[in-house]
Amino acid sequence: MKTEIKPLKSINGEVAIPGDKSISHRALIIGSLAHGTTKITNFLRSEDTLATLNILKAIGANIELTNAKEVVIEGNGLHSFQEPEDILDAKNSGTTMRLIMGVLAAQNFYSVLTGDDSLKKRPMKRVIDPLSKMGGLFFGRKQGNYAPITILGTDDIFPIFYSTPVASAQVKSAILLNALYAKGTSQITEPYKSRDHTERMLKYFGANIEEKGTTVTINGGDDLKGKEVFVPSDISSASFFIVAALIMENSTLLIKDVGINPTRSGAIKILKMMGAEITTLNLRYLNNEPVCDLLVKSSNLKGVEIKGDIIPTLIDEIPILAVAASQADGKTLIKDANELRYKETDRIKAIVNEFTKMGIEIFEREDGFEISGKQKIKGNCTCESYNDHRIAMSLAIAGLIAENPININDFDCVNISYPRFLDTLNTLR
Ligand code: S3P
Repeated sequence: MKTEIKPLKSINGEVAIPGDKSISHRALIIGSLAHGTTKITNFLRSEDTLATLNILKAIGANIELTNAKEVVIEGNGLHSFQEPEDILDAKNSGTTMRLIMGVLAAQNFYSVLTGDDSLKKRPMKRVIDPLSKMGGLFFGRKQGNYAPITILGTDDIFPIFYSTPVASAQVKSAILLNALYAKGTSQITEPYKSRDHTERMLKYFGANIEEKGTTVTINGGDDLKGKEVFVPSDISSASFFIVAALIMENSTLLIKDVGINPTRSGAIKILKMMGAEITTLNLRYLNNEPVCDLLVKSSNLKGVEIKGDIIPTLIDEIPILAVAASQADGKTLIKDANELRYKETDRIKAIVNEFTKMGIEIFEREDGFEISGKQKIKGNCTCESYNDHRIAMSLAIAGLIAENPININDFDCVNISYPRFLDTLNTLR
């Protein structure tokens, strides 16, 4: 589907952002591993989270979508799963594939996980290496790095002390889920701290788990108890509208119930450093996660350097931060973000190619890019989304401030994380 984005003068009002994707995946998985009822409200119903839901159903989990945003799970504990009758399809979702591998490796059965063309090109060895050390047996294409992945699980899981070479919540979470089945204590250390939703939710469900700096310690064998989970609005989805309000004149936006876990909210920190007027209201904790309302006003931004340990806390927001940077005063440099090359598409290449097409000057680096500010966006072009939801939505926001309309190909990939993105945008027009 090709979508035309027309320029806009300002956006104002209150915007409802859908539930957090990372937390929705985790609530489905951890709820299925627990004993008793788990009720998930404000669940994100999108292509990625439905991939997780369908895989869990295929291995015997008792899950029901009770309405558009609500899921009820009747969990029967860690050992309640059965061998699937068919190949399990994680579609476009790296979180589904990597986290589910952690569960499947601890089941005494055979399973095969695959995904779409994008997921089949994403590295899986980073998860397979530690999980193999814990007892699971894995086979995959290209020396075991790419899906389809065959898993011979075992009910004899060893604990592990492991330092991950990359700061990745998907890798860490796969190990943590597998470690629930281990006889003994496991410990995972990351080079930088990645999002800690799995740790917070496991603790909320009763696991014995401790976070200290970049190290997490977890005991195996503990029973998890079903819980009520409210999924906060996704800060990654919110960031598209936050940046839109900041870069358009005379705009004021209120976004309610946004999750602002510090391991996820690096973009807010950076935007504030850039001079953004973002006010945090009504801060509270829901199922171990900090949640607040955000009031955003048009601001004069200035360029910054984004690098080092803040990168994992804003990794998914880099495409939209690049849009903000193109309107800031002065240069913005993004480095240490090589992981962007292993997302749904190579996001560094995608940003550089498509910004150039729109008339924005940007320079590619191996681990990021450099972009000068106060640029005019000419538009009047057809951009590629690369079937990457975050690229599609970032380009759409850039299109709002372009001098001419832009077209974006394959825009329906927004269904991965934000199925009603265009409806939301139109309510603010
Ligand atoms: C996610 C972790 C991040 C992030 C992805 C979602 C998660 O990936 O980019 O969109 O839910 O755990 P990595 O773990 O590969 O850094």
